[in-house]
Amino acid sequence: MFHVEHEKVGEMSIKTLSIYTFRNLTEAHLTLSPFFNLIAGENGAGKSSILEAVYFLSHGRSFRGHVLEPLVQFNQQKTILQALITTAAQNEVSVGVMKSLIEDGQIKIGGELCRSAVELAALLPVQLLNADSFDLLNGGPAFRRQWMDWGLFHVEHAYGDLWRRYNHVLKQRNAALKKEGGAAVRCWDEELTQMGEKMALQRAQYIEQIMPLSNDIFGRFCDFSFYFQYERGWGADLSLRDALHGSLARDQHLGYTSVGPHRADLKLSIENKAVQAILSRGQQKWLIYSLKLAQGQLLKQQTDKNCVYLLDDVPAEWDAQRQKILIGVLRDMLSQVLITGIDLSYLYELTGDLPTKMFHVERGVVTQQQLQAV
Ligand SMILES: Nc1ncnc2c1ncn2[C@@H]1O[C@H](COP(=O)(O)OP(=O)(O)OP(=O)(O)O)[C@@H](O)[C@H]1O
Ligand SMILES: [Mg+2]
Repeated sequence: MFHVEHEKVGEMSIKTLSIYTFRNLTEAHLTLSPFFNLIAGENGAGKSSILEAVYFLSHGRSFRGHVLEPLVQFNQQKTILQALITTAAQNEVSVGVMKSLIEDGQIKIGGELCRSAVELAALLPVQLLNADSFDLLNGGPAFRRQWMDWGLFHVEHAYGDLWRRYNHVLKQRNAALKKEGGAAVRCWDEELTQMGEKMALQRAQYIEQIMPLSNDIFGRFCDFSFYFQYERGWGADLSLRDALHGSLARDQHLGYTSVGPHRADLKLSIENKAVQAILSRGQQKWLIYSLKLAQGQLLKQQTDKNCVYLLDDVPAEWDAQRQKILIGVLRDMLSQVLITGIDLSYLYELTGDLPTKMFHVERGVVTQQQLQAV
């Protein structure tokens, strides 16, 4: 029994996924459910590698970074990942990524070669939640900037381009700071100001929009509300132009630009205290989930696109009630979800009334489990 309105079934999702010589997955073909996909198996079986392959398909690189060698199967020279994507408009688009240790890689969308992985990311928004997601709260500001930028990249058409151009000019200014005089440095300030102020404003607007959504999700698990304090990267009552002028001597001493949106941060607090000081570990993890789930909701509201959620080992700290809340939020979003775990049969009971598929992975071999419909 599917309790889902028919027209909502199967929005943006991965229909089929093929993986060749990627970590311990020699060859795997998965026909996925547009909703829940539960991937079970023992430690080291290859579960996270399936999620890493999906992430790779959407970013042209791993979440571990750009180094390809550890991902290509031992004794092989390349890896190939392919998928058939059902778009929000119900069209099917094939995407493929080939990465090789000895020749140039290739990215194809709809059979056509494309030059940049940015197009993949735009076509297939993916949110990953794994043990490293804790960095969003406890890591440096770069993790929180990345979180804001993910949202803006997918929601604001021109943001990705603005971000790239800003970082390009910033690099030029930093190079000038290292080897040239004040005039050569200041010639970049006007462009940096124009772009930097726009980025900061868009981030501030994004925070305003996402605050109620993430608090609403957070509130289903905890009785607190949290507050975002957005720090844009330079003094509150200064233009970026004035801030850059004011910090010129310091920047020359440091050898880099110390003010601007590349220094932005977000402080999360409850009752004026840092969330880390107030929340338990299980609650902190739920806060991170709330931040990332809210991004999917906002994406849906503003673009009608869905993002695919990759949940690598749902936190063991969460009791059955919390797991139920998580599944409830994901169900309401009608997003495609891939969840890994040692034993996921208890989750199947919570998802079984939406199309759910269960896969078993053993030593890199993936098989679909036949389960009775609920
Ligand atoms: N380049 C590679 N070639 C072949 N095998 C590799 C390569 N890199 C890693 N592996 C192996 O792939 C296996 C799968 O790792 P993966 O992280 O996907 O396991 P997992 O099922 O998620 O396990 P866990 O439950 O411990 O998280 C591991 O046994 C790992 O040693
Ligand atoms: Mg794993």
